[in-house]
Amino acid sequence: MIFTVAIDGPAAAGKGTVSRAVADHFGFRHLDTGLLYRAVGARMLAGEDAVAAAEALSPDDLRSPDLRTQDVAAAASRVAVVPEVRAALVAFQRGFARSEGGAVLDGRDIGTVICPEAEAKLYVTASPEIRAERRFAELVARGAEVTLAGVLEDVLARDARDMGRAEAPLRAAGDATLIDTSDMAVEDAVAAAIAAVEVRRSGRG
Ligand code: CDP
Repeated sequence: MIFTVAIDGPAAAGKGTVSRAVADHFGFRHLDTGLLYRAVGARMLAGEDAVAAAEALSPDDLRSPDLRTQDVAAAASRVAVVPEVRAALVAFQRGFARSEGGAVLDGRDIGTVICPEAEAKLYVTASPEIRAERRFAELVARGAEVTLAGVLEDVLARDARDMGRAEAPLRAAGDATLIDTSDMAVEDAVAAAIAAVEVRRSGRG
């Protein structure tokens, strides 16, 4: 059985939580594609050429605990504008998406570029202020020294870069189901996502 769920949206909108819950619910595999760009960004910060790093990326690179910092997030969105970096990561993502047993991929361009044929597409978003508050709480819980204003600035800068780039810009696919989580509890966002995928699975959508 081949079934791809594409989940796109801006930074800290809740894609990760929703994607993991959808994958668990349906028994699908899950790939957080942001980690690929974060791993390339981390290697660039360590002095490597971004394209060479993307071409040489290995599963071990994705296991580093340091990929969740704000510096690495900013580096990820900088390397993500480089067409050769994106090209180096396409085959792996497509292979994962079409692997047997069902797959959930979350990112920025899954429903538009990586997997336009995905059986189910979601676009998960929330206001920049709410997203900044969520990311701030996450970072503080992890012991990072950040301010809410600084995190909001990072979120807005990353939105501008992700939506404004020429190659695979962040946007909702025409056939994606929009889920705005600004006023939703986590469990409501998860329930809405599962319901939207269920409609496509049963051929009702
Ligand atoms: O977790 P968060 O939403 O903050 O970020 P992420 O999903 O880990 O992605 C980090 C950065 O990688 C994004 O700001 C994008 O610039 C880039 N990215 C991308 O260009 N395409 C993807 N499919 C996934 C991430």
